[in-house]
Amino acid sequence: MSARFTGKVAIVTGSSSGIGQSIAVRLASEGASVVIDYHSNPEGAEETQKKIAAAGGGKTITVKADVTIMDDVKNLVEQAWQQLGSCDILVNNAGVEKHAPFWEATESDYDLVLGTNLKAPFFLTQRFVQKLMEAKKPGRVINISSVHEDMVFPNFASYCAAKGGIRMLMRDLAMELGPLGITVNNVAPGAINTPINASLLEDKPKLNALLNNIPLGRLGTPEDVASLVAFLASDEAAYVTGSTYFVDGGLIRNYKEQ
Ligand code: NAI
Repeated sequence: MSARFTGKVAIVTGSSSGIGQSIAVRLASEGASVVIDYHSNPEGAEETQKKIAAAGGGKTITVKADVTIMDDVKNLVEQAWQQLGSCDILVNNAGVEKHAPFWEATESDYDLVLGTNLKAPFFLTQRFVQKLMEAKKPGRVINISSVHEDMVFPNFASYCAAKGGIRMLMRDLAMELGPLGITVNNVAPGAINTPINASLLEDKPKLNALLNNIPLGRLGTPEDVASLVAFLASDEAAYVTGSTYFVDGGLIRNYKEQ
């Protein structure tokens, strides 16, 4: 594979599992040095490192950072600069969802979902940008949002609020950061085979109903998402900013307002 990211440094939040792990492996396998962020799963972060080594990928460091804690957010960017000498690409991937009918949703779950999926990308991007401004360097921000930045998801109101929020955050920052040479885009996955969907994968009738709504007839893989992220992080996407790119097997096209 070509080394599109030689000399580049990327942070991928939540890269000890699922989509984040695949993105870290993909960017590193194309030459990037990668900061593997993990929250509570050091074994997962080690697994990501091993997969990168097996793929002959670039340098990696692992950093424990809970992206809902602002000191951790600052430290994550600091570690990239201190240990790897730069930070050119930020992938805001860490995310959580909480299922509850709206009238039963708790404040603590709301804070967790909004804190992880929206507040964390906001302040992580801010720190990423501040450092790039000091260094007078361009950069790439890619947020892993969801089809639910646009498509309703009953019983997941806080998740929809966060993903809808990150759609507008991305659009706004593309305007503000464009003059600095920093592009900002969202990658919006549909249904991807990862731990976040563990209960869905066990519920065959629900899974089959979902598959019937996906024109390509299958769940996505983390690698499907990583390919799109790699494109947006690469020089080939130099003129791409301010939009959402869906990787959903066509799910969003088959969607009717409920
Ligand atoms: P996952 O559960 O494997 O990954 C989520 C990652 O976020 C985990 O590594 C977890 O440790 C990390 N994380 C959670 N809270 C954190 C915190 N406070 N600090 C640092 N890291 C934290 O699930 P998946 O599917 O890989 O999710 C990745 C992203 O993709 C999420 O933003 C999710 O909303 C989004 N997504 C996933 C879809 C799917 O079908 N799997 C569909 C649409 C969007």
